[in-house]
Amino acid sequence: MIDKISTLGGYIHEYQKSVENPEAFWSRIAESFFWRKKWDKVLDWNFSEPRINWFVNGKMNITENIFERHLFTRGNQPAIIWEPNDPKDENRVLTYSELFEEVQKFANVLLELGIKKGDRIAIYMPMIPELAIAMLGCARIGAIHSIVFAGFSSNSLADRIKDAEAKLVITSDGGYRGNKTIPIKDIVDEAVATCPTIEKVIVVQRTNTKIAFNDKIDLWWHECMANAEEVNQAELMDAEDNLFILYTSGSTDKPKGIVHTCGGYMVYSAYTFKNVFQYSDGDIYFCSADIGWITGHSYIVYGPLLNGATTMMFEGIPTYPDAGRYWDIVNKYEVAQFYTAPTAIRSLMSMGQEYVENKDLSSLKVLGTVGEPINEEAWHWYHDHVGKNRCPIVDTWWQTETGGISISPIAGIIPTKPGFATLPQPGIQPIIVDGEGKELSGKSVEGNLCIKYPWPGMLRTIWGDHERFKKTYFSTFDNLYFSGDGVKRDEDGYYRILGRVDDVINVSGHRMGTAEVENAINEHPLVNESAVVGFPHDIKGQGIYAFVVCGELSTGGAEGIKTSIRKGVTKIIGPIAKPDKILLVKGLPKTRSGKIMRRILRKIAQGDFDNFGDISTLLDTSVVEEIINGALEDV
Ligand code: PRX
Repeated sequence: MIDKISTLGGYIHEYQKSVENPEAFWSRIAESFFWRKKWDKVLDWNFSEPRINWFVNGKMNITENIFERHLFTRGNQPAIIWEPNDPKDENRVLTYSELFEEVQKFANVLLELGIKKGDRIAIYMPMIPELAIAMLGCARIGAIHSIVFAGFSSNSLADRIKDAEAKLVITSDGGYRGNKTIPIKDIVDEAVATCPTIEKVIVVQRTNTKIAFNDKIDLWWHECMANAEEVNQAELMDAEDNLFILYTSGSTDKPKGIVHTCGGYMVYSAYTFKNVFQYSDGDIYFCSADIGWITGHSYIVYGPLLNGATTMMFEGIPTYPDAGRYWDIVNKYEVAQFYTAPTAIRSLMSMGQEYVENKDLSSLKVLGTVGEPINEEAWHWYHDHVGKNRCPIVDTWWQTETGGISISPIAGIIPTKPGFATLPQPGIQPIIVDGEGKELSGKSVEGNLCIKYPWPGMLRTIWGDHERFKKTYFSTFDNLYFSGDGVKRDEDGYYRILGRVDDVINVSGHRMGTAEVENAINEHPLVNESAVVGFPHDIKGQGIYAFVVCGELSTGGAEGIKTSIRKGVTKIIGPIAKPDKILLVKGLPKTRSGKIMRRILRKIAQGDFDNFGDISTLLDTSVVEEIINGALEDV
């Protein structure tokens, strides 16, 4: 088992060791896992190719480290506690033995269907236990899972299936979210119709709604499982074999398939989980993310289960049946660690104290946030009203690419400061550089956040496009991993994340590429062109502001066109990409070389109509005036 860091001195000592001799450090951590063959070399790397190999020639399977390693001691302990959307429905508790049996059976189902190590499997499911069983079943046989958040549209799902050339989709008939029923299978059907690589679709029954069942490719999960063998021998995986792909938005149009591998991701997700949350045996841990995002991968499924923890899975939403739902769950299960996004905190905060005030939250020991900067007001509300001034808040900075928490307090050990992710986790060597790549050393500096040395949980490539991997992360600054975030290091040496410095907007903690949204808007037949920027939003952190140039207006006029643009974006990407504000304009501010000056649009979106800086390169300055007038009228 991984030893926890238990004092500030211990953290400083571990951190120093991890920097002085990273290989010895990670080798010691990795030794607490079960390897079928030990590695020959801890690390082989360079950031210029880039090539990153951890635990070279080590052989293992991540599911053996979840199940076989824990069965003797934890067979009857709950592994997953599932809380349904409707609190009146029955919950499900899967012990380590029960979960193991399901995973083995599902692994055998996959093998029966001819799925082999290395094949890609798309998973598009609501938050039900079968989602975790499906992903672990894939990992058991060495198939690469690619989970697509079930809020994405059929187009987005199809793009991801095509990019990964997935053979199989695992899904459900429908899903519940609050008082809505989502037609999950219909969305999958629409996607699969355009994806020739898909051979079969496995469907879990959840809502029992009527679906179009195509006998040629559709299979019922329960029927497959009823006949499945109960025992499955895990596939032998190399530490550097792929474990999963997870798509994320970048500054160009096409989402990137971030690739994580077995050995390094295992060691890193497990190590950070145990330390950051200070998990102790018997604690009930609850992360409210969706497994469709990296937070759910690392801190609902892999990190907790690798530590033999009890992890909650919640199907519903924070406001159903009312805005006290999270606190009811904390109370019902006596949750010790609770991990959520600032956007959820802000939204619950805006609904009033009464939902939290009368709940017994005395079981809580640690609170966490992730995904976006947390403003001080929300931090204090979380600290005072949820944590009752007794629980440390871990503001965890990391990314789909980093695989696990990278800069964060260790709960109760590294003193916190509102708005600061504080200090790097052992093994993470942050460096701040200016626009030219020059290191800004010392304290009280601000610049681009890079990492200068590999860590086991980092991405290894972009699926099918190693060149793009190199260009996106290792070419902006020589020999450094560039995160895309701006950061400030204060006089205490603490890190405060300032947000993205590229064309990515962080909406409710979810990454949205502006180019992606623009392309979706431009699909509208009346739209000539568009430019999308972020603007400060009280609940979402950042909202999406679209400046749109239309040839002519349709019969519905301006409002009609805005509605149809929003519908179009929802259809093409999903509801999370729907612009909060749309301003119809005659032209966009462009330079003589045709580049859109987003800087001006960002200012206007923020409601700042002066201080545009140097606009002498603009082709037509009257465009700016026209946009400002439109924006003023729109307020
Ligand atoms: O901008 C940073 C922001 O979220 C981005 C990563 O998004 P994603 O890959 O979707 O992963 C989110 C969950 C790990 C980062 O580049 N971000 C993440 N955590 C924080 C944050 N910004 C400020 N503070 C954080 N704690």
